[in-house]
Formats: sequence, structure tokens, C-alpha cells
Amino acid sequence: MAWYAPQRVKMKDGCRATLRPAREEEAGELLTLVNEVAAEGIYIGTEKLLLGLDEERQFIRDALENPRKLLIVAEAGGKIVAISSIFAGSFGLKDRHVGTLGMLVAKPYRELGLGTTMMTYLLAWARAVGLEKVDLEVFSTNQRAINLYRKFGFIEEGRRRRAFRLLDRYADDVMMGLFLATPKGG
Ligand SMILES: CC(C)(COP(=O)(O)OP(=O)(O)OC[C@H]1O[C@@H](n2cnc3c(N)ncnc32)[C@H](O)[C@@H]1OP(=O)(O)O)[C@@H](O)C(=O)NCCC(=O)NCCS
Repeated sequence: MAWYAPQRVKMKDGCRATLRPAREEEAGELLTLVNEVAAEGIYIGTEKLLLGLDEERQFIRDALENPRKLLIVAEAGGKIVAISSIFAGSFGLKDRHVGTLGMLVAKPYRELGLGTTMMTYLLAWARAVGLEKVDLEVFSTNQRAINLYRKFGFIEEGRRRRAFRLLDRYADDVMMGLFLATPKGG
């Protein structure tokens, strides 16, 4: 089980949200939210997710059981309004010190501080479990997300130019990274 405690946060509109690990029974709601953001066409590489409910439940269960993965949601007004995650060790032993971060907020809940509070929560967890580095990818056109990542100290580490064609323009795939600890050994 993920051990990280639920956290109540106040959004910029004065309403409250709760940040906590996703639950298996929320698989359908998570899929819907990811697909809504995917349908906007300009923020994430993912097209419509065709995962079945069972696969999504398995995905959530895996995150709950794996100590190097954290998948959290923000719940407000009884709904899931944001999702974010850090998954470390996607290749196994060789990259278990690095977590890859992803984040999305439902359109009506953006710019209310949820991205900031989720990032604080995720990085506290990453430090607590001993990750040395967190990295992510973001479209060069997504200035709001880039500003959020820079605010927490992420720096650009490279970019694949014109790697994506969005609705009306190209976007570079910008790779950003944040070191949490000094390297051990060589
Ligand atoms: C990007 C995203 C996760 C940010 O979360 P958020 O809750 O909207 O962001 P916050 O309200 O916490 O603001 C975080 C920072 O973003 C920046 N920001 C906010 N609004 C902005 C705007 N209109 N233009 C530029 N930067 C902006 C600011 O630096 C802000 O920090 P500050 O409030 O201390 O000034 C969210 O907007 C989102 O999900 N967007 C669509 C999906 C997406 O882009 N996902 C990321 C893919 S890599």
C-alpha cells in the first residue's frame, strides 16, 4: 500500500481539495479525465486511452503496491479533478533512482494552485523514498506547465525539435529534470 497521507489543500477560489493516492474503484473516473485532457489536443502526447476498466484498475493497483510508484488524485466536490504520478524504475534496476512525473488538471480547476500543491506532495514523497532525480517531458508550447516545473527547480536537459504536431502548430518535446540528491559513487 502507498503510505503517503491524504492532504487537505485550499485552492485559490477558496474551495478545498484532498490530495491522496488513487483508488482502484476510481479507474473509470481517471480514464474519463485523461481522455478529456487528451481530447483538448495540445497538452499531452496520449491520444484517447482505450484501456478497459480492468486494465486501468490493474494500473492503479500496481501503483498502490509498488513502493517506487505514486499515483495521486485531487478530489474536490466529490469528483476527481486532477491526477499526477511519479513512476520510478520503468526499466528496472538501472533507473530505479529516477522517477518520471506526469500531471494533469481538469479544465475548470486549472490555475487554482492544484498543480503546485500536487508537485509539493509528489516531491516530498520522492525525497522520502530516496529518489535521486525526477524527470518529465513537456511540449514547448505549454508555457503554463513549464513555468510550474521551473518554479520547483526543474531545468531543461534537452529537446527533440518539432517532435509533435499539435492542432495548429509544431511543438518541441522538452525534457526537464530535477536532482533531489547528489550522486552516489561514480
Ligand atoms: C499544467 C498544469 C498541471 C498546472 O497546474 P495548475 O493547477 O493549473 O497550476 P497552478 O495554479 O498551480 O500554477 C502553477 C504555476 O503555473 C504558472 N501559471 C499559472 N497560470 C499561468 C498562465 N496563464 N500562463 C503562464 N503560466 C501560468 C505559474 O508559474 C504558476 O505559479 P504561481 O501561481 O506561483 O505563479 C495544469 O494547468 C494542466 O493540467 N494543464 C493541462 C494539462 C497539462 O498541461 N499537463 C502537463 C503536461 S506536461
